[in-house]
Amino acid sequence: MSLPLDIVILAAGKGTRMVSELPKVLHRLAGLPLLQHVLNTARRLNPAKIIVVYGHGGETVPQRIDDPAIAWVKQEPQLGTGHAVQQAAPHLDAGGVTLVLYGDVPLIQQATLETLLQAASDDAAALLTVDLPDPAGYGRIVRDANGDIAAIVEHKDASTAQHAIREINTGVMALPTARLKDWLARLSNDNVQREYYLTDVIGMAVADGVRVYASQPRHRWEVLGVNSPAQLAHLERLYQHEQAQRLLEQGVRLADPKRLDVRGELTCGRDVEIDINCIFEGKVTLGDNVRIGANCVLRDVSVAADTRIAPFSLIEEAQVGADCRIGPFARIRPGTQLAQAVHIGNFVEIKNSQVDDGSKINHLSYVGDSTVGKKVNVGAGTITCNYDGVHKHRTVIEDGAFIGSDTQLVAPVTVGRDATIGAGSTITKDTPAEQLTLSRAKQISINGWKRPVKKQ
Ligand code: UD1
Ligand code: MG
Repeated sequence: MSLPLDIVILAAGKGTRMVSELPKVLHRLAGLPLLQHVLNTARRLNPAKIIVVYGHGGETVPQRIDDPAIAWVKQEPQLGTGHAVQQAAPHLDAGGVTLVLYGDVPLIQQATLETLLQAASDDAAALLTVDLPDPAGYGRIVRDANGDIAAIVEHKDASTAQHAIREINTGVMALPTARLKDWLARLSNDNVQREYYLTDVIGMAVADGVRVYASQPRHRWEVLGVNSPAQLAHLERLYQHEQAQRLLEQGVRLADPKRLDVRGELTCGRDVEIDINCIFEGKVTLGDNVRIGANCVLRDVSVAADTRIAPFSLIEEAQVGADCRIGPFARIRPGTQLAQAVHIGNFVEIKNSQVDDGSKINHLSYVGDSTVGKKVNVGAGTITCNYDGVHKHRTVIEDGAFIGSDTQLVAPVTVGRDATIGAGSTITKDTPAEQLTLSRAKQISINGWKRPVKKQ
């Protein structure tokens, strides 16, 4: 199909059964609003225009999606799917084809839509249909004696005989736009629901001698809609199942494909192993031989080859180099870059810091706004005091420095190359290279001192 394509996404409906203040199409699946999934798929079809019909929830939907490439059309009140497309009609290019999608059917796939669009032209319409064992509630595909599509009849308007039809309208259809404009203008709401049905255009197409083809989605889950939290949770699991299968096919070893959540894009090298209950958000890249322990959360992170991340680690907006050892219970915050063979141990928080090759921060420390050189050893309980209540200051620890346990580094401060800081020090001034610096009261012992005793 080489005709210009416009895509109309219907997203004005109420979503009463979500029992939520949030408009239905903004509820999240795999971390993204339902509508965003549909938009992402729509965009891959290279349409001339994407028009979203919104209504319920007011301006919240266009505000949250905030995409200048979308034409937003408000439908107020909502008088049916035909009425919804009528609102979009002025935006549609009469020389092309219009594809109708639903904002609450998030899993529709590009390949299915491409097949559907191949059947549509300036004198042919195409419907996406499925056969359901229980078709109750859906519009039925009525075929004539030759098996050609004659009309769509809504469940509530259907006869008993029509109720037996199992082929249903998914709602996704592709229509010749010039004809569509004419059909839309002729819709009536003379039906049980007193709505303007988009589905009535199919009968009109047949009457006008326009052929109507049907095609089926590759997977039945593609056309499932979200009407309730239960359905949303169901679709989330279907989506996650698909992600997990894709990763397994690529050779990623998942301890349990049912206990993995990918809310974004996870790219893996060879021989990656992921233990149970891990969540990957945004863009995450794992290099060859990376191992992720149980219960880790990674958001917008790249991890280079051979690195191990032990259980219960949270890493956000960070770059982790090759051959590092992270966790368990590590928290790595935005703006952190770890070079090669860095060790970050348990109960260590790193924020907006660069840690160079071979350095170790293994226990109970906070390192923020810091530049840590190569082969630095940061002892247990070390804290960078980076915040004076108003400003953040940097701490610089040069190559080879050794920071004794329970040290406070009051920034801005620099620890020189190969310097040693005695345990328990509060460092407020730059420390010279290669020397031992310590700031603590000298240890004394008091001879003859007695513990107080309780009076009888
Ligand atoms: C519709 C179809 C039905 C199909 C079913 C598939 C019609 C008349 N019926 O029925 O054949 O089997 O979907 O799920 O088209 N919407 C608006 N504005 C409106 C009404 C609806 O934007 O005024 C949007 C909804 O937000 C939703 C979609 O259109 O995304 C479908 O609306 P819905 O009320 O679910 O249609 P159904 O009656 O289920
Ligand atoms: Mg519906």
